[in-house]
Amino acid sequence: MTIAVTNRLPEPALAALREAGELRIDERTEAIPRPDLLRLVAGAEAILTLLHDRVDEELLEAAGPQLRCVANVAVGYDNVDVAAAARRGVVVTNTPGVLDDATADLTLALILAATRRVAEGDRLIRAGRPWTWGMSFMLGSGLRGKLLGIVGLGGIGRRVAERARAFGMEIAYHSRHPAPAEVTATLGAERLSLEELLARADVVSLHCPLTPETRHLIGAAELARMKPTAVLINAARGPVVDEPALAEALAAGEIASAGLDVYEHEPRVEPALLGLENVVLSPHLGSATVETRTAMAELASRNAISVLRGEGPLTPVAPQ
Ligand code: DGY
Repeated sequence: MTIAVTNRLPEPALAALREAGELRIDERTEAIPRPDLLRLVAGAEAILTLLHDRVDEELLEAAGPQLRCVANVAVGYDNVDVAAAARRGVVVTNTPGVLDDATADLTLALILAATRRVAEGDRLIRAGRPWTWGMSFMLGSGLRGKLLGIVGLGGIGRRVAERARAFGMEIAYHSRHPAPAEVTATLGAERLSLEELLARADVVSLHCPLTPETRHLIGAAELARMKPTAVLINAARGPVVDEPALAEALAAGEIASAGLDVYEHEPRVEPALLGLENVVLSPHLGSATVETRTAMAELASRNAISVLRGEGPLTPVAPQ
């Protein structure tokens, strides 16, 4: 059995795959160019993909009819045409759960950096600009008693809420379906419409998947609904936010600040954001810890091996 891996993965995952079949791997650490990707997958029974590998009709066709599993090494799977895979009987899996804590940690880092102006202060010092401690110097805003509005109360959103509670924040959430009662009771989380959440929250944090419905969920009209003191955090997927509209809202003081880990056209960042002091930018680091990346790769490899052995997927993205 041939297993194609589109990028260098942590060794424990590769070791398991080597035992299960013949491993074909592209050793690059950056995204594999499309022609190489299409060549790599030809004849494979399973493919382990990353979030920048587009899995569509063309790739499935290039792989061939023997393909049984696409194991995406990410919880998000907007890079995969799941319907096209299903039509060919190909199982698609993702890596839920194992990256919740790391992504929630990074989200809190962005919330703190945005509200306490950490990156702005770092830039000020590195630029050698004069400063002294002052009663009104670089004031930010505190978190205790403030309302965190979470859009998408899945695994990551819940971990963010738990952490925010420890900082004294109140929790509200918006999602298509109500979260389980025991979850909302533990978090003291109130379910709101998106409009109400945007109007009331001091920090709005996005944790929904990218789907046709959530593309540009936050645009000019939604930003205008937020408080002028509010902060927007996006550690989900870039296209959930209309980036030029966000840059305009930040420049105009329509909202106070933003923290972004993901971008609409990654790795490009809207140029208008780059000159703004009130936005903190990190390069898609949500799951970027040694432990988490290892766990993601191991879960993806277990998924692929389980499907190839006929035992079914551990974490399929849709009912198969
Ligand atoms: C995911 O798993 O979807 C993350 O974006 C990777 O960091």
